Amino acid sequence: MTNPLALIAEITHRCPLHCVYCSNPLELAAVRDELSTSEWIDIFQQGSKLGILHAHFTGGEPLARPDLTELIAGARAAGLYTNLITSGIGLAEPRLKQVVDAGLDHIQISFQDSREDAANWIAGAKSHAYKIELSRLIRRHKIAFTVNLVVHRQNIDHLDEMISFIEQLAPERMEIAHTQYYGWALKNRSALLPTRAQLDKAVEVVAAAEKRLAGRIRIDSVVPDYYARFPKACMGGWGRRLMLINPAGKVLPCHAAEVIPGLTFENVRDCSLEYIWQESSSFQRFRGEEWMPEPCRSCDQRSQDFGGCRCQALLLTGNAAATDPACSLAPAHHIVEAAVADANSDPAISESVSAASFVQLQQLTQSLWSYRKNRNKFEPGSTAKTGTQ
Ligand code: SF4
Ligand code: FES
Repeated sequence: MTNPLALIAEITHRCPLHCVYCSNPLELAAVRDELSTSEWIDIFQQGSKLGILHAHFTGGEPLARPDLTELIAGARAAGLYTNLITSGIGLAEPRLKQVVDAGLDHIQISFQDSREDAANWIAGAKSHAYKIELSRLIRRHKIAFTVNLVVHRQNIDHLDEMISFIEQLAPERMEIAHTQYYGWALKNRSALLPTRAQLDKAVEVVAAAEKRLAGRIRIDSVVPDYYARFPKACMGGWGRRLMLINPAGKVLPCHAAEVIPGLTFENVRDCSLEYIWQESSSFQRFRGEEWMPEPCRSCDQRSQDFGGCRCQALLLTGNAAATDPACSLAPAHHIVEAAVADANSDPAISESVSAASFVQLQQLTQSLWSYRKNRNKFEPGSTAKTGTQ
């Protein structure tokens, strides 16, 4: 068995945004259940001994934790490379300097669009201007910077404009992330899944941008798996590379694993990380190839995609052990084909939608999608149960 390489630290589910494609679970963890500072620092030390190299701080919005600086310092002291994935709300210059001084190596900001009204509409909150401001501040510090752009039916038609916008922010890396259909995104799939024509054009736009920006900005982009021949190697394979710890201390092989009925996930409050990685039934359930049904079991692709995504299999077929329906060879591939056929039966209208004003866009919202509902009020650095226990 290999050791895990990265720890995804979901330190809170609190968030100032309400993105319609959020991959957090529909049932969010409560503030009163969040792990304390000392519990997280202990996790980083255990993780380092287990061979973990990277700590990704995410949420929700990690800046909601007033102890974020201490957490980053704790991960760094444990020898981990630290990455902060943030909306930027609540990160003014003094706090940015603090987290950089604490040892932050890399920061990633997600943008919803290049157009302010459309970006705020998708986020369900006015956040776009803050993100631009923060991107400028980041470039004054010596940390690596990635801009992530979530692409879908409503913004994909002006991908070239969005790439030029990101170019101005001067990141080292740009991630063009097609929406993945879990959580709120699955609920809103019909409003988010692009048409085949939109996707084909987007692939050309990205190829041209890669050529133009070569040597300056690296672009990472993956075709959405609903349109691919084979599924994505979700999380690099179940229990192969990653551990995700949710705000309440549950340890999961991926962000959506809790949707799978019948699996019990251990909590870092009760068991060591090493035990969970090596012994827990949840990490062993879909590790390796033993669990695979046909056609995966005898398929040449199985060492590349590990049979696709277990959560997507569950969400679309009701059986987590089924071949991922995104795979063109899957017995249940007709489910994905039907969603794709639906998406292609109506012409997409993204240009006119995303060029509309915020007020016009708000009027569209009710019939188009549901925003992520937040369980707790967000205040940057607001006090949860932190400190030592
Ligand atoms: Fe991957 Fe299974 Fe499809 Fe083969 S049959 S490509 S292993 S999901
Ligand atoms: Fe859970 Fe893919 S999101 S295995």
